[in-house]
Amino acid sequence: MIWKLALLGIIAKVSLLLFWTYWRTRVSIIPVLVEFEHFANDVANTSGALADQFPSVLVVSDTLPYPPVQLPAAARLHLTAPDIDVPLLERVHRGLTPSSHVLVLPDFVRVSDAGRLAALATAQLSAMVALPVGAVQCERVRLDVRRWTLEYSPAAEGGPCDAVSGRHGLLLPTALLWRLAEPFCRPAPECLYVQTARARLPVVLSPSGLLAPAPVELTQRQRQKLRQYREHRWDALLRLLEVRRVVRAGRSQWHGCTRDSARCFPSLVDDTPDYLHRGRWTPPCCLRHLRHTARHVLRALTVCGARHWLEGGSLLGAVRSGDIIPWDSDVDVGMYLDDVPGCAPLRDAVKRPVVDEQGFVWEKAPEGRFFRVQFSAQNRIHVDIFPFYSRNGTMTKDTWFATHRQDCEFPEHYLTPLETLPFVGVNASVPNRARQFLELKFGPGVVENPQYPQPSVLALRAERPGDVDMNDPWRDEL
Ligand SMILES: *[C@@H]1O[C@H](CO)[C@@H](O)[C@H](O)[C@H]1NC(C)=O
Ligand SMILES: *[C@@H]1O[C@H](CO)[C@@H](O)[C@H](O)[C@H]1NC(C)=O
Ligand SMILES: *[C@@H]1O[C@H](CO)[C@@H](O)[C@H](O)[C@H]1NC(C)=O
Repeated sequence: MIWKLALLGIIAKVSLLLFWTYWRTRVSIIPVLVEFEHFANDVANTSGALADQFPSVLVVSDTLPYPPVQLPAAARLHLTAPDIDVPLLERVHRGLTPSSHVLVLPDFVRVSDAGRLAALATAQLSAMVALPVGAVQCERVRLDVRRWTLEYSPAAEGGPCDAVSGRHGLLLPTALLWRLAEPFCRPAPECLYVQTARARLPVVLSPSGLLAPAPVELTQRQRQKLRQYREHRWDALLRLLEVRRVVRAGRSQWHGCTRDSARCFPSLVDDTPDYLHRGRWTPPCCLRHLRHTARHVLRALTVCGARHWLEGGSLLGAVRSGDIIPWDSDVDVGMYLDDVPGCAPLRDAVKRPVVDEQGFVWEKAPEGRFFRVQFSAQNRIHVDIFPFYSRNGTMTKDTWFATHRQDCEFPEHYLTPLETLPFVGVNASVPNRARQFLELKFGPGVVENPQYPQPSVLALRAERPGDVDMNDPWRDEL
């Protein structure tokens, strides 16, 4: 009797273990077709083929595909664009069948081995796995929000992989997809990788042979149009992410403001540009234009023989790093008022704004008795030039900014003689004993202790949790 009970107990335990193992390893994969264009795609044939291999197929599109696509009964069409008759929550979840994994596929591919795919999903229950269709490469991805920059670099041999380039499908746990802010954003899977890289989720590269290219019958014109659409989608993604610079293998591609567009931040309130409130520094395109304008102005002042020097935050940046402070919004230069008449663009700007041969605009600043040189008529990022004069050995001027501690008189001996320091790639004229000059203007320790212009204004941000990353070692990056 007792041994029978013991045997029953063992059988029950074994069955439970088997059942649990079965449940744990039971995978269900739903292929997702999101990366296709309405005017030329293989969605009908692809989903037809997938419907024979998987219980369900998900086709995701912003709007109803046109021309219409014939989908098999097993396929569900999920439309992401707002629909006035469908509540938001319902729209987000509508048509989505529960599954353990999703397989995000590029257009024009077939799953050649669904059995091996299921085995792979079972072995990689929680990982993202890239399934090559052609040649692929592992990459590192870093979205640096503070610098508006998206950076790609080749992954080290055998090292971690944030993204895969080249044609491939992406198998990932469904739960992971739902943790992302934009699970269906495009281009896929590039947009997924930007998000998973931020969450430090690596992607594993599987051997090839699970996916195969489908026969493609496209005209030259269609191929060209597909490439164009892809570029547009990429640009739209960068706008969504507010990325202004993409770095690939150390080379920058610029997005965002140009010479012909408006400066990419609005006028300053409380000396604090809007981007600082948002935990960001100067957009890199603006910094680049600002450096360009600064080099132009410093050269022009040198050519006309004006005695000039870097002022305020610009001098501070030169002393700290030979560059503009990474969150600064303009460049400040001081000069002798006596030298203004000898400089044609300044002399002319007294009467009316002057556009020079290279398109820079020289004008009298509306705020007071100083000059402003804008990058262009449209893009008003600028260098301010403050004329000073000597009164009994003290340098003074006529317009002062009450909120700027650094805007004050100083002994002329800092300018006799002037010295040079590297700044934005040139040797810029600066006061002698620049560090002492800066401490006189800003206070002791200013070079070593970076501060935002008006920290008290920014302190408001700290009251919103999640807005500030307290562990962000931005000071170490200087
Ligand atoms: C889909 O398959 C059919 C039959 O194999 C073929 O005639 C058709 O051209 C295919 N469609 C596309 C878009 O490739
Ligand atoms: C300059 O200093 C001299 C003598 O120190 C004085 O007489 C004169 O008033 C001062 N001038 C100004 C403009 O302060
Ligand atoms: C700056 O000056 C130094 C010393 O005179 C010189 O070696 C260097 O090439 C100059 N740099 C630039 C960018 O002109």
